[in-house]
Amino acid sequence: MRAAHFVRSATRLARLSFVPEISLYQVDDIYALWARTERELGRAGLPPPFWGVAWPGGLALARYLLDHPALVTGRTVLDFGAGSGLVGIAAAKAGAASVMTSEPDPLGRAAIALNAAINGVAAAVCVDGAYGGAAGITAEVVLAGDVWYERDLAEHVSGYLADAAARGARVLTGDIGRRYFPRGRYQCLASYEVPASLDLEGTQALHASVWQANRACPASGD
Ligand SMILES: C[S@@+](CC[C@H](N)C(=O)[O-])C[C@H]1O[C@@H](n2cnc3c(N)ncnc32)[C@H](O)[C@@H]1O
Repeated sequence: MRAAHFVRSATRLARLSFVPEISLYQVDDIYALWARTERELGRAGLPPPFWGVAWPGGLALARYLLDHPALVTGRTVLDFGAGSGLVGIAAAKAGAASVMTSEPDPLGRAAIALNAAINGVAAAVCVDGAYGGAAGITAEVVLAGDVWYERDLAEHVSGYLADAAARGARVLTGDIGRRYFPRGRYQCLASYEVPASLDLEGTQALHASVWQANRACPASGD
């Protein structure tokens, strides 16, 4: 199965109502896509195809970046847990010098490449499966949309983003108040009502916020 062909055949290209600057290959029914993916790959127990949906935390973060381009203009950016690439694509459209997207799902990486191309930012957006490793060490801005839904992942992300903030990167995340978000380490920058999937979230609109990681206090005398 060719990943790009699969992504195109399983989705429809649609403009995001909340972020109309961006169109994505999306699915209406993520559970049907999940079943189809497992069937066609001949594997059970795969993670959900996160890449088929624009998640509410990511929508809020993408909106914020497009409305505050100075945060990323001319800077190197990492989109951690990129899914469809929504957040990284918004950063590229806002003028980032380069965007590395980190996404472990190979179909997700195919979707990011397709989505970057259809939004005219393929040259700026690189696709990586390396969990943000190398790029995370150097990126000036680290972004993470909707990554606080699972304890193990949240622990990993939390440490990773704290390290990035400690070395001076600006770290922004979008979240709807999911269970494992370490709110005490972040400051809220903005909040929105964003559209949500009734199937996934049990509601069609959610309150989503954009948060910035607190930077470590400089040592006295600095
Ligand atoms: C809920 S989705 C959010 C996707 C996108 N940021 C958005 O807001 O639409 C979370 C994403 O994190 C990715 N992910 C899971 N574990 C990861 C890891 N260890 N490193 C990087 N990404 C990971 C998942 O594959 C998924 O695409």
